[in-house]
Order: sequence, then C-alpha cells, then structure tokens
Amino acid sequence: MNELPIGIFDSGVGGLTVYRALHDRLPNERFVYLGDTARVPYGTKSLATVERYAIENSEFLASLGIKLLVVACNTASALALPKIRERIGLDVVGVIGPGGRKAVVETSSQDEPRIAVIATEATVSSGAYTDAIRRASNAASVFQTACPLFVPLAEEGWTAEAETFSIAEKYLKKVREFDPHSLVLGCTHYPILRDVIQQTVGENVKLIDSGEATAEEVERLLTDRGLANPNEILGTRELCDDLDHFYVTDAAERFAKVAERFLGTTPNKLEAIEVYGRDELKT
Ligand code: DGL
Repeated sequence: MNELPIGIFDSGVGGLTVYRALHDRLPNERFVYLGDTARVPYGTKSLATVERYAIENSEFLASLGIKLLVVACNTASALALPKIRERIGLDVVGVIGPGGRKAVVETSSQDEPRIAVIATEATVSSGAYTDAIRRASNAASVFQTACPLFVPLAEEGWTAEAETFSIAEKYLKKVREFDPHSLVLGCTHYPILRDVIQQTVGENVKLIDSGEATAEEVERLLTDRGLANPNEILGTRELCDDLDHFYVTDAAERFAKVAERFLGTTPNKLEAIEVYGRDELKT
C-alpha cells in the first residue's frame, strides 16, 4: 500500500501547481495525475455536474491503485468532497481546508484578522472557503471575489502583460479596499499570476497558496497514517519524470504545451483516456 502513488485530479492543467507543491515537498513519493481537459472548466458549472465529474475522476484514479487522493481543483474540493469521500474508500484531501487553515495561521497575530479569498465563481458561491476559515477562527472577517479571466490569462502565459495588470486592477480593487492581512489564491491557476496579484494588492498582504498548504497537510497525513513510501527513491527527482504518470481526458498536446509554461517541462508519461461511461464499457 505505502509504495502506491498519490492520486491527484484537477479539471485540467491548473492542478499542476498543486502537483509541483506536492512533488517539491515529497520527493520520495510517486504521483498519478488526471486532468479532465475534456470537461474543463468546472468553475462555471453546477453542483450536480461538478459532483458527477469529480466522482468519475476519483473512481478512475482509485482503479489504478493509489494510497491517497488529492483533489487539486478548488471548485471540485469546494463542491464535491463529501460525495467523493462517500464513494472512495481512501483518505481524500481537498485544497480548501488546508488553504483556509493556513490563512488563519498566517494572520494569528491580528486581533481581528481580515482574510480575502479569490477563486472561481462556483467556489465563491459555495462559501466553502468562508466556512473553512470560520471553523479555524471566529474572529476573522472574510471577503471573497471571483476572478474568472485569470484562468485563461495564466494558461496563455500572460504573467506580466499590461492587459493582465489592468484586469487584476479591476478584479482586485475591492480586495484592496477590504485591506486584508492575507489573500488566499483559491484557484489552481492563480499562483502562476502571483507577481501580478502581489503587486496589485500590495506587498504587505500575505499570499496563501492553497496547493502549498495542501502539500504540508499531505506530508503530515502520510506520517500520521504511516503511509509514507518506505523505499527510498534513489537519484534526483525531476518534475514530470518517469516516476509520475499523467492522464488527460482530451487534448494531450495542449496539456503538454501549458505544462511547459507552468512547470518549465512536459510529462514524460502522458496518456489520453476516458473516465466516463466506464461502467457501460464493462458490460
Ligand atoms: N481548477 C479550477 C479551480 O481550481 C480552475 C479551472 C476551472 O474552472 O475548472 O477551481
């Protein structure tokens, strides 16, 4: 069991930011990643649809043999975690709880912490980050806003263009007025635009990367559950090396192109598969 890989799924390519955080923190683990590129984006879809997609993705990864499932997609974490846990007999870690808790820890020196959250429309409407933050602190006030155009801008690699700054200015004006102590990057793509976001909200605002917060919690969970890989992986680990396997539900070439932008490298092992209709195929 302990030698099995950790499963990660996302609606598409954005979850590679979470993969990178896990890979950096856990060099002795292997990963299997599923990007649901056929059905991305999730951030504008309904609860029922996101739940259905999330369950199909989780069942696909579980069928490969994994020891733990990380739901890298903030939208799927916000909307579908209870349903996934009901269906998968494994530990499941989403990004919302870790991101919310980290924001509270990082503002714990404040009497009245102000925490802002930026995310997709579906994540914002779910109120999942607000709930996670309130569970960790009843003193914190929370302001949330959706920044949907950040997703295509990150995928285009427009990380320093004037257009990106002007869109950030428009989205983040209200965040600046709220004057937060910390700001949660509550969408897989937003860490790619970290510099633009930091410059727009001001250098004194602490940015919280939910993927990094999740990697910290996964490390603790592996230790607590005794699930860490007991066999030392020898040699240097590289992002996307032969030990990690990537699956997409469509457009593998585009996935590889955006992976190069996000990670500076492309998966050695990348396969296109279908995750839906698998039960029908079996009969
Ligand atoms: N991965 C999604 C998230 O973190 C962003 C892209 C989408 O809308 O599917 O919420």
